[in-house]
Amino acid sequence: MTGVVITGIQWGDEGKGKFVDMLADKADFVVRFQGGNNAGHTLVVDGKVYKLRLLPSGVVRDGVTSIIGNGVVFNPWGFFEEVQQIESQGRDINPNNLMIAENTTLLLPIHMELDALREEHAQENKIGTTKSGIGPAYEDKVGRRAIRLCDLAHEDYLKQRLSLLVAHHNVQRQALGAEKINEEKLFADIKAIGKKILPYVKPVWKILDQAKKESKNILFEGAQGTYLDIDHGTYPYVTSSNTVAGNASAGTGMGSGFAHKVLGIVKAYTTRVGEGPFVTELTNNIGEHLAEKGHEFGTVTNRPRRCGWFDSVMVAQSVALNGCTSVVLTKIDVLDEMEELKICTGYKLNGEVINYVPASIKDQENIIPIYETLPGWKSTTYGITTEEKLPIQARNYIKRIEELIGVKASLISTSPERNDTIIREKPFS
Ligand code: GDP
Ligand code: IMO
Ligand code: MG
Repeated sequence: MTGVVITGIQWGDEGKGKFVDMLADKADFVVRFQGGNNAGHTLVVDGKVYKLRLLPSGVVRDGVTSIIGNGVVFNPWGFFEEVQQIESQGRDINPNNLMIAENTTLLLPIHMELDALREEHAQENKIGTTKSGIGPAYEDKVGRRAIRLCDLAHEDYLKQRLSLLVAHHNVQRQALGAEKINEEKLFADIKAIGKKILPYVKPVWKILDQAKKESKNILFEGAQGTYLDIDHGTYPYVTSSNTVAGNASAGTGMGSGFAHKVLGIVKAYTTRVGEGPFVTELTNNIGEHLAEKGHEFGTVTNRPRRCGWFDSVMVAQSVALNGCTSVVLTKIDVLDEMEELKICTGYKLNGEVINYVPASIKDQENIIPIYETLPGWKSTTYGITTEEKLPIQARNYIKRIEELIGVKASLISTSPERNDTIIREKPFS
């Protein structure tokens, strides 16, 4: 078996979807292991655009089994909406080609409501979440009061579990000035959707164990990015799951030693959507240019993404946190019109030079970036698929990034299209 993990190295939206889709040509399984429909992964195949939130990016390939692992928080209504959308684009999704782990946490409308209520009340302390209910759903999971997909098959038990959950939520809702939950209606809604979802619900760990024994190729699809990780990110401005590659084990039931390769997806500059510190942020016309040229609008919320220079300190740390064997460098073409490019090579904090991202948000806010300047290439790289065709300045930019982060770029992306990629080394032989 060959296990390859794909994770986001910055603050998400690095282009994970494009590469999961591209590499899925050699995969037997594509597996999501964390997050939920806060993710927005864009795939472009021969001009046709697919936008996926909860569905693994293997769903557009024939012969790939898509798996949603136990580490995900699962919104069944969102799931069916997405299935319908993707089916309207000509794909067929059914319990033979898509499976969801029995022990996956159910995300309910009350989680989305609580997420939105909290954000409204937090005002200037808001996180800037996607309001998909991710935080509240993970809280209920860790608080041991969540409903799991396996509970849908046991009506009396489901009712008991829902009562527990509703009692907990009602206290919080009251404090936030919201109405009490209509428990009867919610129970009826869950029962109805439960019937539709149960055929997809399987012991995923066992399916993956069998796949391992049969030497299958398994691609693990990360969502979000390392600096949104609940432990390693810019806390509290993070999501509520571990996004790093290690969670591909716990979030699916795959034993350790499963990852032969870890590909970190890295944007050739930096973006962030939502609140929180951003050391190399450009709040000037250069930032605006990157946003416009890179179409930097959130796939899920359509919010503008904040843009900034490439931060090698962040990326080098992320390479270590994920155990990246190589990186995939995306959106090189977005830099085509730049006169010159800056790379952040170190931080100054309280007069001292440091080469890591300090955990404290207070320190992160006070960092002064140290930059190195490289010449731009002022010519188009859009759609280039061979390295020799890249201008020398672009090759030098990539080389410098590799030196600073300590691993090679095995793939380089020059457009949203699946095949517009310079392939130096593919993870599945
Ligand atoms: P993900 O969340 O990591 O899957 O990334 P998103 O899909 O949210 O955002 C990445 C965006 O960049 C999408 O619109 C992609 O189609 C697009 N994209 C990916 N790679 C490239 C590239 O090399 N060049 C350009 N111009 N766009 C790209
Ligand atoms: P993909 O998989 C970029 C951000 C939100 C917010 C924070 C918490 O497409 O890269 P949440 O709704 O998770 O509680 O929000 O995390 N965020 C993302 N940013 N890409 C994503 O996913 C994101 N998913 C969540 O903007 O700052
Ligand atoms: Mg995205």
